[in-house]
Parts: sequence; C-alpha cells; structure tokens
Amino acid sequence: MNVLVVGVGPHTRLNHLPALAAAQDTGLAGTVTGVDLSHNAAAVEYGTPDRPRRMPVVAVEPFPASRRELPGAVRRALETVVEQERIGAVVVATEPSVHLPYALWAIGRNLPVLLDKPLTVHPAASTDPAAAMAIADDFDTLLDAYRAGRQRDPRMVVSVLSQRRWHPAFRRVRELIGEVAEATNCPVTSIQSSHGDGQWRLPDELVDLGYHGFRDGYGKAAHSGYHHFDIVPWWLAAAERPGKELDEIEVHAACTRPSDFLAQLTAADHERLLPGFADRNPYTAQDLHRLAGFGEVDMFLNVAYRSHGRTLALGSHSLAHTTFSQRGDLHPALGGLYKGNGRIGQESHMVQQGPFQALHLHVLQTLHADGDGVDRRAAGGADHIELHVFRNDGLGLGWERHRVLGFDDLTWDSRGEVVLPTQRSARTCAVTDFLSYLAGRIPRAEMASDLADHRRPARLMAAAYLSMARREAGGGQPCPPVVLDFHPASAPVSHGGKALATLGAA
Ligand SMILES: NC(=O)c1ccc[n+]([C@@H]2O[C@H](COP(=O)([O-])OP(=O)(O)OC[C@H]3O[C@@H](n4cnc5c(N)ncnc54)[C@H](O)[C@@H]3O)[C@@H](O)[C@H]2O)c1
Repeated sequence: MNVLVVGVGPHTRLNHLPALAAAQDTGLAGTVTGVDLSHNAAAVEYGTPDRPRRMPVVAVEPFPASRRELPGAVRRALETVVEQERIGAVVVATEPSVHLPYALWAIGRNLPVLLDKPLTVHPAASTDPAAAMAIADDFDTLLDAYRAGRQRDPRMVVSVLSQRRWHPAFRRVRELIGEVAEATNCPVTSIQSSHGDGQWRLPDELVDLGYHGFRDGYGKAAHSGYHHFDIVPWWLAAAERPGKELDEIEVHAACTRPSDFLAQLTAADHERLLPGFADRNPYTAQDLHRLAGFGEVDMFLNVAYRSHGRTLALGSHSLAHTTFSQRGDLHPALGGLYKGNGRIGQESHMVQQGPFQALHLHVLQTLHADGDGVDRRAAGGADHIELHVFRNDGLGLGWERHRVLGFDDLTWDSRGEVVLPTQRSARTCAVTDFLSYLAGRIPRAEMASDLADHRRPARLMAAAYLSMARREAGGGQPCPPVVLDFHPASAPVSHGGKALATLGAA
C-alpha cells in the first residue's frame, strides 16, 4: 500500500514517519510520498540508522483556508502523484484549516484516509459564530462524502487519528465504565477532564509564531482540545443504556485570549523575569493590547449532557495552555514549540458513575527532554500514568474498593503487538490499524475511530467555539448557553435512491 502524506510538519516527522517505517518493515506499507507547501517541500530522511529512507515531497501552492475544494493546480499535482506512485491511501496531516478540501478530494477519489484531528477548523472560529458552526457542518459534509464513497466501494474507510481511542489506559477506563453500567444501569453522572500544555509563549511569540498559535482566531480547543471532545463522549457512550441515550448538549465556554494572558503576566513582568526579552521584543505594550481577533489560550467548558430533556451527566472540561512549564529562557525550541522547550503535559480525568464507581486517571509527564541535555522533567517523569479505580464494595457485587493501575498494568497486548500506555505508542497503533484494515488483516468492526463515529466530538468542538464566538460578537456580554443536538449519528442521506442508514460506525 503506497501512502501519500499530505502535510510534512513536526507531527508527520515525529509520529507518522516512524510508524510508516515500522509498517514498511512488516510489509503493511510500500512507498511513502509527501506533499507540502513549496517552502517545506525538501525530501525528508526517516527510518532507523540501519535502515535509512527518504521521502520525496511534492510542492503545492498555498490556498485560502475554509475552501471545500482544492484549487485546480493542487488537485492536478496530487492526481499526478497518485498515478505515478500508485498511491493507495492518504494521510491528511496538514494544518487543520485545510483538512477539509484534502480529505474531500481523497474520499472523492475513493482513496482511504487517515485524517488527523481536529477534523476541521476555520479562521475566526472563536470570534465569528458562523465560522464556529461551520465545524459541525463540515462533519456532515465529510460524512455524506464518506457514505457516497462506501456506496461506491464498501471497503472504503476514513479513520480519524485521535489516538486516545487506542491508548490502553483510555480503553481500560471505557471498559470499566461499561462494566458498571451493565451491572447497575447507571450512566456516567459527571466527569471532570483537564489538560495542560505546559507551554509558555512569550508576548512577541504570541504575535509572531503561527505554529499551534492563536493568530488565526482559534487556539487551544483546536489544538489538543479535540482529544477531549473525542474521548469524553466516547466514555459516556460506554454507559448509554436503553432509554438513557444522550441526545442534546448544553454548553457554556469561558476563555482567556492573548490580551488576557498579557494582563496576567505583562510585558514588563516578562522583562523582569527573562533577561534579554526587552531587547528582543519589537512590540510596545500598546501593540500587544491590540491583539484583537486572536483565539483562545485557555478554555474552560461546562457541559450538560442530556437525554430526553433530563441531564444525565455534567461535564467540566478544562483545556489550558498557560500551565506549569519548565521553560526558563528566551529561545523557542528548535523546530518551534511542538516538543521540548520546557513543555510539560498534565492530563487528568475524574469520572463519577453515580454511587458505584469513581475513576481517576492522571498522566503527568513531559513530552520531551530538551535538546540541550538538561532533563527538565518535573511532573511525574517520562512514563507517569496512574489509574485509580474506586468501586462500591458495600453492595455485595464482589467489587474491590480501590485498585491502582500503573504503566505495566496498563500495557496492552493488541493482536500480539505491545501497545504502551503512551500517546506515541497509541498513535503508532492508529497508523498500523488503518494499514492492517486495508491489507485485510483486521475487520472493519475492529477499527476504533471511524469518521462516522465523530459526530459528537465535532459538535462539542463547534459548541465550544460557538459559545466563545457569541460572547465575543456580543461585545463580551454573557450569552445564553449553546444547545445542540448530540445524537451519535446524523440522519442518513440518500444517494442514488438508496437509504444508507446502515453505513454508520462499525
Ligand atoms: N494526534 C496528535 O497527537 C497530534 C499531534 C500533533 C499534531 N496533530 C495534528 O496533525 C496535523 C499536523 O500537525 P503539525 O503539528 O505538523 O502542524 P503544522 O501546522 O506544522 O502543519 C503541518 C504541515 O502542513 C503544511 N501545510 C499547511 N497548509 C498546507 C496546504 N494548503 N497544503 C499542503 N500542506 C500544507 C505546513 O507547511 C506544515 O508543514 C494537524 O492537524 C494537527 O492538529 C496531531
């Protein structure tokens, strides 16, 4: 299976290429060809020292975000590569505001797609209600195209790389929720999730760095936020019982933007804390106060998950960029701010399932040690993960009151392959499963993250942005919460007179 990787950024280099090299070694992947903008179109070396490889990268010209269709010249360039390289699958790993046209092009060509999260996003999503709501509409557009593609070729697949669905700890949480729901008929009744990036963007970097930044009117929720929009409904669904299906969400978001961050920690504070910052920073305090239209830095979300007009679960989802970091100097890490540079991840989830079960999942780790040889890991260490399982042992159901599962307990053997409880191992698993399905080695039923199963994450993300955007558009005045339909599948659309209701998630 020859693979086309659209977008050769840090994520592709760090995650996709090692996974694809491993897949080449096991015969799952053939050649790998990249596509990127001309300034980033040099061939890329990948693989291991004993098996180095080279990925040619085809250059395309940039085009405005929020297009549904690729410009003719880009499409022709892709068609040529598909033909010449006999491409059989496409990985869409560009900046997310251009995911949609690449994904629609590939689906239209009946090329299976591994689509990186988030599905889509639009400039000004946090300030323009129409741009926010387009995120939900994009899902419908993608799903319609996918359904039509499966009608043409039943083996067609679009898998979304939101890797927590392959992560052993997150799978274990899902199983534990399902077990208790089965025994008690009790849904998840509340969930508190939080993610901290552990980055520190200095005032001038807020303006100058586009990479996973805030300049385009979206931020944290579109960067790592999608993982939470995905995993929370995925867990809630494990406890949906007949008559207790979730059908609506009510969402209220509060956020900080770069101008708020600069009130928390002013340019003068930065000058005092970081020698040399005043000399480097070309912006005056007035310039920095004019960061209008920038996206969210931190975003906290309150959600009521409803069924037939009743609230079954309350959710609080805290997605924060400005969190404890180990950055101590002026220089962003080589290659931007994706990894390194003192970045420390903190993730935690507390799930309550009525009076029966509480689950506490904590992942406290740095994502990467800095390249200067100094190990700045402070929170937990490289492999920290802990899942506390509390169960009501007073009921006589044979439950243990408290168990703690660590790294080794959570390591999972998937079809003879070890999946570690780390994001990297889970990402690799997502790539391997995608290729294994295409090679006929696993059935569709084992695909963990089919596009058809992403309506809820897309709607949660759209609702979060709509809430932020309405407040911004209303001059910062408090707004009523956003209420959206939350059924797991949209109504089937008819193509060629055939009802496609059966083409939902596996
Ligand atoms: N699953 C995860 O944990 C994870 C981690 C990081 C990133 N991601 C996702 O992967 C994707 C890529 O991430 P990244 O950090 O490398 O981002 P990035 O912003 O660096 O984008 C990747 C590449 O896309 C290219 N690009 C931009 N516009 C393009 C266009 N019109 N045509 C072709 N190429 C274009 C850029 O030049 C860049 O090299 C994003 O969607 C991101 O959300 C996922």
